Amino acid sequence: MDCVLKLDRLPEKKPFIEGIRRAPRRDSVLSEHDMEIALKNALRYIPEQFHAELAPEFMEELKTRGRIYGYRFRPEGRLWGKPIDQYEGKCIEGKAFQVMIDNNLDFEVALYPYELVTYGETGQVCQNWMQYLLIKQYLKELTNTQTLVIESGHPLGVFRSHENAPRVILTNGLMVGLFDKPEEFNRAAAMGVANYGQMTAGGWMYIGPQGIVHGTFNTLLNAGRLKLGIPKDKDLAGRLFVSAGLGGMSGAQGKAAEIAGAAAIIAEVDSSRIETRYKQGWVSKVSDDLATCVKWAQEAQKEGKPLAIAYHGNVVDLLHYLINNDIHVDLLSDQTSCHAVYEGGYCPVGVSFEERTRLLAEDHEAFKKAVDASLKLHIAAIDELSKRGTYFFDYGNSFLKAVYDAGVKSICKNGENEKDGFVYPSYVEDILGPQLFDYGYGPFRWVCLSGKPEDLDKTDAAAMDCIDPTRRYQDRDNWVWVRDAKKNKMVVGTQARILYQDAMGRLKIALRFNEMVRNGEIGPVMLGRDHHDTGGTDSPFRETSNIKDGSNIMADMATQCFAGNAARGMSLIALHNGGGVGIGKSINGGFGMVLDGSERVDRILSSAMPWDTMGGVARRAWARNENAIETCLAYNRDNEGTDCITIPHIADDTLVRETVLNALKSNE
Ligand SMILES: NC(=O)c1ccc[n+]([C@@H]2O[C@H](COP(=O)([O-])OP(=O)(O)OC[C@H]3O[C@@H](n4cnc5c(N)ncnc54)[C@H](O)[C@@H]3O)[C@@H](O)[C@H]2O)c1
Repeated sequence: MDCVLKLDRLPEKKPFIEGIRRAPRRDSVLSEHDMEIALKNALRYIPEQFHAELAPEFMEELKTRGRIYGYRFRPEGRLWGKPIDQYEGKCIEGKAFQVMIDNNLDFEVALYPYELVTYGETGQVCQNWMQYLLIKQYLKELTNTQTLVIESGHPLGVFRSHENAPRVILTNGLMVGLFDKPEEFNRAAAMGVANYGQMTAGGWMYIGPQGIVHGTFNTLLNAGRLKLGIPKDKDLAGRLFVSAGLGGMSGAQGKAAEIAGAAAIIAEVDSSRIETRYKQGWVSKVSDDLATCVKWAQEAQKEGKPLAIAYHGNVVDLLHYLINNDIHVDLLSDQTSCHAVYEGGYCPVGVSFEERTRLLAEDHEAFKKAVDASLKLHIAAIDELSKRGTYFFDYGNSFLKAVYDAGVKSICKNGENEKDGFVYPSYVEDILGPQLFDYGYGPFRWVCLSGKPEDLDKTDAAAMDCIDPTRRYQDRDNWVWVRDAKKNKMVVGTQARILYQDAMGRLKIALRFNEMVRNGEIGPVMLGRDHHDTGGTDSPFRETSNIKDGSNIMADMATQCFAGNAARGMSLIALHNGGGVGIGKSINGGFGMVLDGSERVDRILSSAMPWDTMGGVARRAWARNENAIETCLAYNRDNEGTDCITIPHIADDTLVRETVLNALKSNE
């Protein structure tokens, strides 16, 4: 096995294909010494005889793009997740992960494919094209008694392990606490030692915005049930949902709103992203005229018909128009990339998309000021709409944190700082946490590695068969989702499906699929999940925002989930810093599991699938979340003799309050 990148000659420099989105210049404040290190770091991948030619080219990339991507090493043309048979490899997992990586970099799927960004403005598969080539080189050679180790996109090497060990262990952006801040991360990334993996980008498990359509559909539907009084068997017909962003993940909002029956207006400043969503049929109408957008929405509401409208413009302008014209909004959110608010994730009002890109490159201070001013106007408009009866929720993009960082303290529950949370809920706090995560329902997914649509049809049907829609309303929602998934044309990239399931639901489906592979009914399948789940992610502003026992600032659960999945033999395990909310604000992990039809895989699934989810439900139960306690009690009953989850005793609130008050009084 070669332990350096095989390179007889330098690949030709290729032109960038017109119309493919490019990442803005990334922030990088490097000293002269840092720049030298950055250059030496990038040249580590390349044989010495090419250094003289490449050094100035890499330096130019660092100067103009803020990072060294090694563009020249990108394979020519479109990358895409081909059927697994078309990849070379010595084990099925080695081939399967190549499918996943290429899918994450597909022009049709990725946000900035040339910069290896899959979604979320900064979420990368790895840092540069030299790493991409080396990872693929290793995956081709990997055997089923070895493990490939990836640190922030860099393939550290292949080490001997055993058949039931993970084939790939990867981490992204994990930083030592003292340095765990965006500025330090940006410096490390510019020097070529840190990768922002987001969630499924750096874990190679992104399946296009379908992944989030289901989550958004669940969120909107349950928000309607909880806050608008919509009965459990009805949808959002006649209601108006307003939000911003039609990018990688946010692009799901229009489609999800339509599936949930609502009329929706989604603001987006970048016309190319609107075009992508329109071509896909994920928004049905487009206009840059606010009156037209509102007229369309109101007509749809009157007729009770679903309709997703893209407004080409800034969300702040949209909100001002709605306020000034007294238009009632039922549900309001935002999905601009506020986790990277000063890196281009949020476009300030009054600044066009093109001007935003210029400002970012030429006058970062002015850009930051404009962002802060815009966020202040944005939150004031939300306050006004909320007064008029709109339900606003933060959609996990760090919007409220960004508003706070812009200097708006009134957004804090305690009026001072973010420690006690914000006056508006995060969607997990009110909706997804108690209604889904506390039961273990989360974004289970699979990819049919054969690339055959008929395999996906068969797995959809088998999954439907595994769900009892009469058990809980969540089961019915999920059953309806998978029943209609094909009709809703969810596939972008590989033949993949997302399906929210609880722990035992995931296990049942996983075992059924593996049996189908064994019987030759379908080709091999990759199982995985989004990190945005019950057990894999510690993120106080998002996934763990409904944990109220003080442990929301701990990262033990995500770390245990990762370690436990490794111990049980998942094919790939990932642990990242940052995710959807930004560096230092979360630790999150995920997995990939290749179903090859073997009994060995059945055994791994039987222990790993329940652990991956129930570890999270157990922690939620220990935090005294009622639905999680109920779920764990049932799990303990059903799994007596193999599993036993610790259940909390619940102290009486009055007793606790009085005891504390008395103690404080006696101190006076
Ligand atoms: N809640 C979840 O489940 C979840 C999942 C993944 C990502 N996220 C978070 O959601 C955010 C969006 O993710 P993404 O992948 O769509 O990112 P993205 O960068 O691809 O898309 C964001 C879009 O917002 C647009 N935009 C920015 N400012 C705007 C403004 N003022 N008005 C109108 N449009 C504006 C951008 O042009 C861009 O297209 C990220 O912060 C991400 O971390 C949330």
